[in-house]
Amino acid sequence: MTIRLADTHAHLDLPEILPDQEEVLARAREAGVALIINVGIGLENSRQVLATARKHPHVRATIGIHPHAAASLKDGDLQALTPLAGDPLVVAVGEIGLDFYRRRSPEETQKHWFRQQLEWAYGLKKIVVIHTREATAATLKILQETRSQLRGGVMHCFGGSLEEAHSFLDLGFYLSFAGPLTYPQAKGLREVVKELPLDRILVETDCPYLPPQPWRGKRNEPAYVVATARQLAELRGLSLEETTRATWENSLRAFGLEEKDFLG
Ligand code: NI
Repeated sequence: MTIRLADTHAHLDLPEILPDQEEVLARAREAGVALIINVGIGLENSRQVLATARKHPHVRATIGIHPHAAASLKDGDLQALTPLAGDPLVVAVGEIGLDFYRRRSPEETQKHWFRQQLEWAYGLKKIVVIHTREATAATLKILQETRSQLRGGVMHCFGGSLEEAHSFLDLGFYLSFAGPLTYPQAKGLREVVKELPLDRILVETDCPYLPPQPWRGKRNEPAYVVATARQLAELRGLSLEETTRATWENSLRAFGLEEKDFLG
């Protein structure tokens, strides 16, 4: 039986991947990756990720400004991106959120633009892809403030506690796991993943970052998402086929996609 995988969070248009993007995409296809969500991180990058999605039938795009870039945003910048959101290949707003680990933008600036982008997403009737690092409580607080308008979303590269996981699940979120699930030191996270509802779990690479074992230290790419799926299968006591069938269906449901568009 062949497996079908979705990489729900990739950055195909960063300089680490651009030079051999075609080869990267070909290897992903060969590895059974039939859907890649190409995630925007900035104004120009959001235009690029959509252009890449337009060229490749198994790629979809999200548009948004990463918290690292929040300080560079100006009034009117989101409105300038709004026309892109009308393209059906744009499946979410993201990645947006808070990063109090690297703090490349001041906390209050990050919160301001996180709120602004949530409002923007709600107006566009889009789900959201969330980045949070050392800022889970503040991220949840802001999401909960506006929960009546939330249409769901994906908590990308989830690395929190079981309690935090349930707070996101209560908001209707899917939890997406990346390469760190395979790292020897991630014992706590592996315990969390055993307790979650299987129908709310996704897998991703976050490439070019965070390569799973055994590719640590190398550039990550979508074909490697299978290693995270294999780790998930082992933790859940399921076969790789059963696990990838679940994460594949979850990915389609999370982003409002139809399987028939990805079978070719
Ligand atoms: Ni990312």
